[in-house]
Amino acid sequence: MTLGLTTAGESHGPALVAILTGLPAGLELDRAQIDADLRRRQQGYGRSPRQQLEQDEVEVLAGLRHGRTLGTPLALVVRNRDHSNWTWGMNAWPPEGEPTGKGTKPVTLPRPGHADLAGVLKYAHDDVRNALERASARHTAVHVAAGAVAKALLRELGIEVAGREVEIGGATGEAEMRAAMDAAKAERDTLGGVVEVRATGLPPGLGSYASREDRLDARLAAALMGIQAVKAVEVGDGLDLARRRGSEAHDEIEPGLARRSNRAGGVEAGMTNGEELVVRAAMKPLPTLMKPLDSVDLATGEAAQALVERSDVAAVEALAVVAEAAVAWELARLAVDKFGGDAIGDLVAAHRAYLERIPWAPR
Ligand SMILES: Cc1cc2nc3c(=O)[nH]c(=O)nc-3n(C[C@H](O)[C@H](O)[C@H](O)COP(=O)(O)O)c2cc1C
Repeated sequence: MTLGLTTAGESHGPALVAILTGLPAGLELDRAQIDADLRRRQQGYGRSPRQQLEQDEVEVLAGLRHGRTLGTPLALVVRNRDHSNWTWGMNAWPPEGEPTGKGTKPVTLPRPGHADLAGVLKYAHDDVRNALERASARHTAVHVAAGAVAKALLRELGIEVAGREVEIGGATGEAEMRAAMDAAKAERDTLGGVVEVRATGLPPGLGSYASREDRLDARLAAALMGIQAVKAVEVGDGLDLARRRGSEAHDEIEPGLARRSNRAGGVEAGMTNGEELVVRAAMKPLPTLMKPLDSVDLATGEAAQALVERSDVAAVEALAVVAEAAVAWELARLAVDKFGGDAIGDLVAAHRAYLERIPWAPR
């Protein structure tokens, strides 16, 4: 059994949905912990008032009884509270009555850098909203909820995963990051940045060199590049390794199997090597600018300014939480692949037996 994750949901539709399959039975989940991660995703200095509006909370529709997984598909829901303003505009069925609320007029002003232009061309939409609603990063909320479940599973194995922002708009210190966001906001512009996710307690041997799709670094790159606005992923010293000599690039092995350095970021040949996992993701500046970029009105073919919709100045802090969830999900998937078991106790026992076989202590 491998872990599976399917999500659905539009940004201003009634709700976001995730179905998680392959989880062992008996895994204890804590609603407060899942909601805490949802809140972390919504916080951050550069976020728009929408985040205050939503106050995300998880609902569980299936797969859980009295706080423990049943070994059946786990169905999670995060409602879009903002939907109350869009009940006509985002109605699943042809709406009755006069148009009212938001989303009543077609959007025809594609934003450079968003899904808008390629999305309407690809799917033959005549309203950019039909593309942007799903392309929006709003549905990262249910990915964060799934990540919280993955972190609960990993915690049973002594593995902790944590993400943080390391750079916003080229600034690195907290005060500098805030100043960069203030300056961008004043100029009605947006920023990107870099986040870092670290994981500790990983045993050597998660992932495999046997084939491309089994490689941990390949999976991490796909998972992180799968997040909106992520344009580059780096494992360990990443790009910088290309500029060094071998003697400055690898991590020498000491008696006891500890490493002298961790330039590889805990991954060799597509497997964890027992060191801390270190992975970074770079985010481009958000495409919705309050001072819109030049575009074309798709209704007329004439030059126009791109759509302006309530939007964040930067979402790097949110990305740190979303990236943490994505990395946790991939690690949990590989842990379930390696250790298996229908019940959480089976998974924990297989992990313990493996640790007994290899001369390695968690770090
Ligand atoms: C957590 C998070 C929040 C985001 N918030 C916004 C936003 O408020 N406004 C915006 O224009 N883009 C936002 N984005 C980025 C867009 O969703 C993204 O740029 C767009 O879907 C196009 O995809 P691409 O950047 O991967 O090409 C956000 C991305 C993430 C990860």
